[in-house]
Amino acid sequence: MKNDFIQELKEKIKKGKPLTALAPMADVTDEVFREMIVKYSKPSGPDIFWTEFVSADGLNSVGKKNLMRDLVFNKKESPILAQIFSSKKENILEAIKLVYKLGFNGVDLNMGCPDRSVEKQLSGSAMMKYPKLSREIVEASRKLVDEINKKDKTRHFSFSVKTRLGYNKIEYEKWFPNILDFEPDIFSVHLRTRKELSLVEAHWEISFEVVDFIKKYCKGNDLKTPIIFLNGDVKSPIQVKEKIKLSTCDGIMIGRGAFGTPWFFNEKEFKKREEQNLDSKKGKENILYRLEILKEHTKLFEKKLNNFKSFNLMKKHYKAYVNGFDGAKELRVDLMEAKDYKEVKKIVDNFIKNRLK
Ligand SMILES: Cc1cc2nc3c(=O)[nH]c(=O)nc-3n(C[C@H](O)[C@H](O)[C@H](O)COP(=O)(O)O)c2cc1C
Repeated sequence: MKNDFIQELKEKIKKGKPLTALAPMADVTDEVFREMIVKYSKPSGPDIFWTEFVSADGLNSVGKKNLMRDLVFNKKESPILAQIFSSKKENILEAIKLVYKLGFNGVDLNMGCPDRSVEKQLSGSAMMKYPKLSREIVEASRKLVDEINKKDKTRHFSFSVKTRLGYNKIEYEKWFPNILDFEPDIFSVHLRTRKELSLVEAHWEISFEVVDFIKKYCKGNDLKTPIIFLNGDVKSPIQVKEKIKLSTCDGIMIGRGAFGTPWFFNEKEFKKREEQNLDSKKGKENILYRLEILKEHTKLFEKKLNNFKSFNLMKKHYKAYVNGFDGAKELRVDLMEAKDYKEVKKIVDNFIKNRLK
């Protein structure tokens, strides 16, 4: 029988499990961070992973070799979708074939990234300004994914899209049909417009209407309803449940909430690790736990990605790991100067010796 993770997700939804997903985040959710999440959150969650985005144009150019590092497939993360962006249909189709061959469980089209360099290529958020082109791309992608599925008798390969509520203003009723008409298996919405970037709070106040629109539109037009993930500002497993209840979506996609907390998707562990008070035994234990994971993460990054990515990318993680306890600011400042694992270990071990023992 065909291994179909979409059906498995639907079973979980039926049973009332709040689904969680790790959001795609460029230069953050790399193979190393995902490996940390597998170690510290699984089997509780996430129910599905996304890779960081990868340029489909790049994958079809001479620069392909380096980009392939962003498409390392690890079965332990499965189900995992590879996210691609481009506005060139042919490149997208080639990238889909590649992603399938690499073993990913599906492909996700990025139709929401506001980065200028991405938008210049008419990709990411810019696609919202070109609905005709977007429709062509979504339709062709869906068709190719269907062909792949027809041939493959062993596993399901899914088609997914991630987007925002609109470009300059909230106009999902006008924009979403360009995607929903082609029946994505998964549809993820970052609850902001392109113009809002991440500068305002995500629009949870209209989340129920957004989900209601998607469901009614699909039903009314005899279209398959996708699994719906909503996304934006969700910072704890409790909020995951609250937001699903509020919106009636199927799952929540977590981005920044998982920074510095690779155990985010393990609700019990998350709760246990909240207290970070240097004056209490439990608080000290939790800070120690964080710092040991920070070192482990750094060591793994150095081992696997040092030849491909700048060590400075780890600094984003340090800002998140080292936060909210006495002495965190000083420790962070020291870590910003570190150039490799050896220096990070020395700085962290000193802090542990002087403040936690
Ligand atoms: C550093 C960073 C990189 C991101 N890269 C991507 C990306 O590659 N693809 C994408 O669809 N969204 C990307 N996003 C957006 C997130 O997936 C998510 O939609 C956004 O951060 C809101 O969710 P959050 O509040 O849970 O972080 C990125 C966000 C951040 C902060």
